[in-house]
Amino acid sequence: MADTAQGTTTEEVEYSEDQIAVHWREEEYVEPPEQFQEQANAGDKSILERFAPENFPDCFVEYAELLSWDKKWDEIVDTSNPPFFKWWVGGKLNACVNCVDRHLESRGDENAIVWVPELEEDETEEITYKELHRRVNEFAALLKDFCGVEAQDRVTFHMPMVPDLPVAMLACARLGVIHSQVFGGFSGGACGQRMADAKSTILVTMDAYYRNGELIDHKVKADEAVEAAKKEGIEVEKILVFRRKPGEYHSESEMVDGRDYFVDELLEDYEGKEVEPESMAAEDTLFLMYTSGTTGRPKGAQHSIGGYLSYVTGTSKYYQDIHPEDTYWCFADIGWITGHSYIVYGPLALGTTTVMYEGVPTYPDAGRPWRIAEKLGVDIFHTAPTTIRMLRKVGPEEPGKYDYHFKTMTTVGEPIEPDVWRWYWKVVGKGEAAITDTWWMTETGGFTGSTLPFLQPMKPGSCGPAALGIQLVIFDENGEEVSKGSGKAGYICIRNPWPGRMLTVWGQDERFIDTYYKRFNKDSNSKEWRDWPFMCGDGAVQAEDGYFRILGRIDDVINVAGHRLGTKELESAAIEVEEVAEAAAVPVVDETRGKVVEMYIALKPEVSESDEDVAKKVAAQIEKDIGKIARPKNVWVVPDMPKTRSGKIMRRVIAGISNFADVGDISTLANPDVVDKIREQVQNAKKERGEDLQELSKKEQEEIATFGEGSE
Ligand code: WTA
Repeated sequence: MADTAQGTTTEEVEYSEDQIAVHWREEEYVEPPEQFQEQANAGDKSILERFAPENFPDCFVEYAELLSWDKKWDEIVDTSNPPFFKWWVGGKLNACVNCVDRHLESRGDENAIVWVPELEEDETEEITYKELHRRVNEFAALLKDFCGVEAQDRVTFHMPMVPDLPVAMLACARLGVIHSQVFGGFSGGACGQRMADAKSTILVTMDAYYRNGELIDHKVKADEAVEAAKKEGIEVEKILVFRRKPGEYHSESEMVDGRDYFVDELLEDYEGKEVEPESMAAEDTLFLMYTSGTTGRPKGAQHSIGGYLSYVTGTSKYYQDIHPEDTYWCFADIGWITGHSYIVYGPLALGTTTVMYEGVPTYPDAGRPWRIAEKLGVDIFHTAPTTIRMLRKVGPEEPGKYDYHFKTMTTVGEPIEPDVWRWYWKVVGKGEAAITDTWWMTETGGFTGSTLPFLQPMKPGSCGPAALGIQLVIFDENGEEVSKGSGKAGYICIRNPWPGRMLTVWGQDERFIDTYYKRFNKDSNSKEWRDWPFMCGDGAVQAEDGYFRILGRIDDVINVAGHRLGTKELESAAIEVEEVAEAAAVPVVDETRGKVVEMYIALKPEVSESDEDVAKKVAAQIEKDIGKIARPKNVWVVPDMPKTRSGKIMRRVIAGISNFADVGDISTLANPDVVDKIREQVQNAKKERGEDLQELSKKEQEEIATFGEGSE
């Protein structure tokens, strides 16, 4: 099992036909409700013909035509230099104009963004398209004059869920500047590392924000970011600080003279200023979104202006069924790709009203999301299985108490268990909303597998067929096609280029090829796009009817509550702790978050500190380097790691122990005795903590049994 320096993985997807037949039993179809069918954007079956493989690449013109262009493209897609495909070549446009200016005439007084602060007594903020236009222009003027940024420079954001975030993103888009928003929950260190990678010297942040009813100090992270960036040779020049409460400052961190500025004070000089939008080439870059992969260094997925925007607009129209008059709420964080594509760019390009919520789903109680939906008249709802599980757990009857009506509901980010799906359908959707289970990833820009809400029947646990214009294929480890209905799992790939795909990994073209193409490209000199299938990074099975079931990541990524965490990132944070000799990260199945992380640590000889103290240090270090979401559930200090004779840590063995599952074959271990010792230590401790009540599905057992096989 090789993990090359470039980050390709040669792990095998080891699921036998019998296992799949028995354990991934197919569910029955659920027919979409009829009552909203008539108004559906994708209302008749001709759309499936229009996007059939023989109409590639022309089919995507339908998406590009949803946008306003300064200059029309000369060529739909340039495939002459695979895999660096370019869409809408020769075309010119501005993303901000598409999301804001062009709606002023018809929808100027309608709400573009409705922001719900976490404290329920605080007022909801309504931002019309006119108001959005004003705010975006003023911030763009500030960026241009005060920061001196130019088209295709990078500006990093480390912002919570406040409307200033989309305002600042759109201001960058107006100037042709590349934004790189780092999830607000990530640590300052993670932010600084990403600033250094993007060579970005300007940071946009906020003093504080609400989380679970508390005002959390956020500006302190900016100081850590500056330090981390400095270590990697980047000097942060300016920090623009929005204030959560106008005129007040809620942070322990001091404002540094000549470096830190309050945005509200700076904006006084830019009142009413308008900035001419830059007319950008379609293949220029709109933003970077960092994500985890096999190696420790996060990858900056680099997304284009024309290709990306056309793709998210088209998929928002047909899969989210967004019309301008809808009130659409995607309950995700803009710090992830879902928020970029389906809170900001797609919905605003369609001129609808997009709702943003600052806080946690259950604050102050599990009825909150449904009160928001009722009050704002939300009719399209979009969230992740982890949120659905949590809301079901703490408030299974809550949705029924509120008078809202959804026409469509989306799930994204992780597989959704059929019984959770059914609660979503019956209780949240009241049996009247179509569910789209959308499968995709940061790299693909938008949905790649899903059902069309009113045209295709749903099947709990399956995402559905390939999205419009996407040609999905499953390959086995030898690169042979796995036929549908065969019951065999393999690597899911996209055969053809599509407009939403990232351009490359920022600054690392080789890594882009190695990670996504090398495995199934048979001839690296080929100039034919058909020789370049895109490897998505998931294992999958395709049923006879063409629907896909996604089995999870095949690289060493742990999906915690829908967030990708690389085991290598976790492990390198742990070994920064002086006393730690070796570290291994494994996933543990969790009732609400899908998976959580557990760390195993072996200490250097003659460490005098107690195991508990080292464990605490490790947890704190991970939180510092990555963020709270990565904080391990447990850190186990063990006498030795189970290893192969060649010294490779067998993560699947410890993953088995942590999950009370079978540890599998241990005959190749150099130190098999250690397995029983660790099992006793860990499982006894877990039983004492009441953490032994796991009931793993067979699918989960299989995932655990093969975990980490791609890592060395
Ligand atoms: C997983 C999130 C099952 C998958 C948009 C993928 C899913 C990874 C689904 C990407 C789904 C996403 N069903 N699994 N509907 N959607 N995934 O980059 O493993 O944060 O590779 O993008 O999430 O995560 P990312």
